Amino acid sequence: MSESFVLVETRGRVGLLTLNRPKALNALNDQLMDELGAALLAFESNADIGCVVITGSEKAFAAGADIGAMKDWSYMDVYNSEYITRNWETLKRIKKPVIAAVAGYALGGGCELAMMCDIIIAADTAKFGQPEIKLGVIPGAGGTQRLPRAVGKAKAMDLALTARMMGAEEAERAGLVSRVVAADKLMEEALDAATVIASMSLPSVMMAKECVNRAFEGSLNEGLLFERRVFHSLFATEDQKEGMAAFTEKRKPDFKHR
Ligand code: HXC
Repeated sequence: MSESFVLVETRGRVGLLTLNRPKALNALNDQLMDELGAALLAFESNADIGCVVITGSEKAFAAGADIGAMKDWSYMDVYNSEYITRNWETLKRIKKPVIAAVAGYALGGGCELAMMCDIIIAADTAKFGQPEIKLGVIPGAGGTQRLPRAVGKAKAMDLALTARMMGAEEAERAGLVSRVVAADKLMEEALDAATVIASMSLPSVMMAKECVNRAFEGSLNEGLLFERRVFHSLFATEDQKEGMAAFTEKRKPDFKHR
């Protein structure tokens, strides 16, 4: 059997996926992305998991798509390949929240992978960038669309056109990452955040995620209507009754659906 490029662990109700192709700085080839997709789907259907964390190594979250694998492709090779659609889209389909815990390089497809996650928590060593322009291409897994939505047009253009890297502090200021912590505290911070999320009622967690994503995908009016309907629907759940009863009774909620 070939070496596994994604290590799969669980920590309580948190699923932990570690990208493990250190010799290539976690360059994202088909095998790695297929393993990642399969592991995500397994956590998605596992009732004992409420949140997922994806991380890499100290040196690299992921340094991009695998350049060696792509370098000789023709236009029709890349058009016909499922390189972007087959396994990269899996992350978008996952309803449970996914946190990217990023240390070191998150470049090209690595930055795009982090941006497909719901929350990015960065070590102070993290470096984000879309350097594809140096290879004579452009970002191909959402970078030109998600980056401007996260950091605004000016910074997204700067990164995509000059290929410069952005450090963790700048990324936090710009709104790409939610928290920056010392590198040796990264996993603790990410797993703690994931544990908090996994302790909540899963229906409301998944629906909150779906609603926030709507803010990026449609118009404000559509998003507001969608949010209102989802808010209404949560009143059909036992967890809403329990959560509000627990608050008024000044006790901790005992959610049924986690
Ligand atoms: C394949 C890669 C790689 C990549 C690094 N490696 N990035 N292999 N694809 N994206 C390999 C190197 O070839 C090298 O292998 C080993 O990892 C260590 O890398 P070094 O370059 O020696 O390390 P260092 O000098 O520390 O430089 C780190 C680095 C640099 C700045 C991150 O590796 C780099 O610029 N990498 C490419 C980043 C990039 O352009 N990413 C975008 C890819 S295109 P050997 O065998 O020599 O030791 C993309 C399109 C997405 O992502 C489209 C969506 C599907």
